[in-house]
Amino acid sequence: MIRLVVFDAYGTLFDVYSVGALAETLFPGQGAALSVMWRDKQIEYSRLVSLSDPLNPLGSRHYQSFWDLTRLALQYSCQRLHLELTPAKQKQLMDQYSQLQAFPENLEVLQTLQRNGMRCAILSNGSPDMLHSAVSSAGMTGLIDKVLSVDEVRQFKTSPQSYGMVADHYPVDVRDVLFVSSNSWDALGATWFGFKSFWVNRQGLPYETLGPRPSYSGSNLKDILPLL
Ligand code: LAC
Repeated sequence: MIRLVVFDAYGTLFDVYSVGALAETLFPGQGAALSVMWRDKQIEYSRLVSLSDPLNPLGSRHYQSFWDLTRLALQYSCQRLHLELTPAKQKQLMDQYSQLQAFPENLEVLQTLQRNGMRCAILSNGSPDMLHSAVSSAGMTGLIDKVLSVDEVRQFKTSPQSYGMVADHYPVDVRDVLFVSSNSWDALGATWFGFKSFWVNRQGLPYETLGPRPSYSGSNLKDILPLL
């Protein structure tokens, strides 16, 4: 019995690679390489700080907001690709990140869930400000009950403390939560935590060879509807 649907944000609701088009305009021939490296480095930095910090959020010393890590990851990626990141280009790319395009089917799926009375939340590494601007620019305000940012516990996914925020905010059994992510590592972390998991595999990628399979998978967000 699924009582709550929790969505990952970046890559699942919002298309992080949509910044590639702007990156290509700013750095012709390098847009795709930059957007992929930027995303990988952003996630790597989030894991690096979480692994190096004690689990007690009050003791965290290395934690920085996802917004700051995103900027640092952009700077690294440009250095690595020998691209000159002027302050103006950095601002343009970072601004784009707060207004990412949503995948085309997402709004309709959220509207259907709302009509069916299913509660929906977001649990994301994103900082509260960047999440709120992404949700509102995608027209999703009012369709999402709570936008949970791991900033509250200062531990990024896949730390159990981050997934544990769902249980802190909703009095539901974790087995009654469907956690939806396009990031296979996130679907795996959620499965390990005890949620039912749904992997949205838009790119036809192999699933992680580590750990259990997700509870469900599909090729776009509409594929969750028959379960609910
Ligand atoms: C998020 C990243 C992991 O939204 O996609 O949490």
